[in-house]
Amino acid sequence: MAPSLLRFQGTLLLKSDRCSISRAASIIRKGGLVAFPTETVYGLGAAASDARAVGRIFRAKGRPSDNPLIVHICHIRQLNEVALGLPVEALELAKRFWPGPLSLVLQRASSIPPEVSAGLPTVAVRMPDHPVALDLIRASGVPLAAPSANRSGHPSPTSFRHVLEDLAGRIEALIISDTCSIGLESTVLDLSGTKPVILRPGGITREMLEEALGVPVAVAGKIKEDHLPSSPGMKYRHYAPRAPLILITGTAKYRRRLIEALCEHYGNRGLSVGLLNEACSSGAAERVDQAVLSASLYKALRQMDQRGVDLILAEETEPAGLGLAIMNRLRKAAARVLRV
Ligand code: TXA
Ligand code: MG
Repeated sequence: MAPSLLRFQGTLLLKSDRCSISRAASIIRKGGLVAFPTETVYGLGAAASDARAVGRIFRAKGRPSDNPLIVHICHIRQLNEVALGLPVEALELAKRFWPGPLSLVLQRASSIPPEVSAGLPTVAVRMPDHPVALDLIRASGVPLAAPSANRSGHPSPTSFRHVLEDLAGRIEALIISDTCSIGLESTVLDLSGTKPVILRPGGITREMLEEALGVPVAVAGKIKEDHLPSSPGMKYRHYAPRAPLILITGTAKYRRRLIEALCEHYGNRGLSVGLLNEACSSGAAERVDQAVLSASLYKALRQMDQRGVDLILAEETEPAGLGLAIMNRLRKAAARVLRV
């Protein structure tokens, strides 16, 4: 049976059955762009070996050309095709955490054009834990270069609807699937230097990596203006909603008091305030479930923009485990951080 040919503003909407996946794969092989689901966020894929198609990803997203892309593979064997001189840690971590939300930065092989890595000698590689993503990579017959499928600066998409909001008409096709269960982008771990360094915290936590490697793992800090960041993505203010987000950190008791006071203050002035933790978490405020928070963070940010709130107040969560990734994204989204 032929796959359905529903279009939205020129973008082909595909299901995830075999026929549709093979159609998506043929679009990829012809140099097209296909948005596909992963367990973290939706990705915008092109053949990683096709420099022209990769250039189109940057244009569709409005992404700065110095911010490199992650290469997605469907089997550990493909690691040797895209990266060189693999350190033992790479294979150990790949065996342990792939498929999963971990991207490894390694020396780039010549099969991957420099455009993918924004000219860097390294390449970030990951095997996503989503059957549709794996089927698409397999059917395409090439690794896929894929950033998150949002316009640059917008929150990453965790549902196909978010992809349409940002990219309808700018990409050839979108595979419609369920929502992305983790909801935050993968952990980016740099293995190209002498010591492993987390460039971006994510679903594979620092604690999990330290346990697997048996050594402490550093987390890259804020970059100084005059210093070239090891992960170019770190220097951009990502994930920003339209309404200014104020992040409240410090002792729980005082955080809550400040939030109440701010709600009253702005409410009295006729402004509508969105509360992030309440919107994200169904648990008691004292014991926020970080997996729930992570899965719904970007959706909540987009919803607040749609509701037209004037201001978003977000409360700190403990920066351990998945909380490190949540706090990383909240800090990047924040217009201001208040400490009480
Ligand atoms: O979960 C994810 O990682 C999603 C899904 C689609 O796989 N992808 C994603 O891609 O979040 P993107 O492009 O939005 O973020 C890639 C991050 C950026 O911060 C980029 O700077 C960093 O990975 N990165 C990619 N290649 C790198 C490299 N060679 N060296 C250092 N950082 C790199
Ligand atoms: Mg992104």
